[in-house]
Amino acid sequence: MSAKRLIDIDGLSLDLIETILERAVALSQGAEPFAQTHTVANVFFEPSTRTRVSFEMAATRLGLRVINLDGERSSITKGESVLDTLKTLHAMGVELAVLRHEQTGICHELMDELPPGLGLINAGDGCGHHPTQALLDAATLIAQGVDLPTAKVVICGDLRHSRVARSNVALLTRLGVGEIGLAGPEALMPAMGSDFEGIKRFEDLDSALANADVVMMLRVQKERMDAAHGGLDWADYHQHWGLTAERLAKAKPDCWVMHPGPMNRGVELSADVADGPRSLILTQVRMSVFTRMAIFEALLS
Ligand code: NCD
Repeated sequence: MSAKRLIDIDGLSLDLIETILERAVALSQGAEPFAQTHTVANVFFEPSTRTRVSFEMAATRLGLRVINLDGERSSITKGESVLDTLKTLHAMGVELAVLRHEQTGICHELMDELPPGLGLINAGDGCGHHPTQALLDAATLIAQGVDLPTAKVVICGDLRHSRVARSNVALLTRLGVGEIGLAGPEALMPAMGSDFEGIKRFEDLDSALANADVVMMLRVQKERMDAAHGGLDWADYHQHWGLTAERLAKAKPDCWVMHPGPMNRGVELSADVADGPRSLILTQVRMSVFTRMAIFEALLS
């Protein structure tokens, strides 16, 4: 039997999405995890704190055996391909690999080449997709009691480089969220003809915030910027696109603030907003463990 793969939101049935979200919320409310006996590997070729550790924590809580391979210290540095690395891990008994890589589209490319018995979870591919982040963001909102069918969600900041935004737009659309809006400087808006086609765009942060129930702020991804987009003035960015307490005061009083982390405090949002009463940032981190447990359960059962 072929192992299961989680590569992007479009590849998931609505049934599976709903199962994962319901289970993540149940686990966060104390449901017993299903004990697992499989072996999984975290294979990370990009720096990561919360995604890598939460996958490890989720695996540990389920009783899975977990191997952590740090790409920078693996035989990749000797020229081995990612495909050969994954085949090698599978030959040793790894049944599911969680992969993060800077190359956009790498998980889609690997799909047909992998041994049929090896499962794969995309933990972020370049500027491509980050489906487990979108799932944990949705689980956070559901656990928080947000009514998705009526909720207005705006995603703001560096949309051009954001796999988080792409996966969130795909998932929120599948879940039939009330309204999705995008806002960010022109230079950091996603290319036309992309997965963001047809989504409402706001000219400035204040109009995006008016009437929003949820604002997802995105990190300015300095490491992905080429010469054309790298010349941003951070103080200027903060002045125009930074979420400050003063700006947030213009939104609905119960508007939630999210950020996938890591944050650039003082750039895309100010410290008082990040640490303030409307911030769900650490709730997202907490829900990331339960959501990734639910994902492991769904893919390994
Ligand atoms: C994001 C990522 O790596 O794509 N962070 C995360 O996974 N929690 C967002 C980012 O790096 O800005």
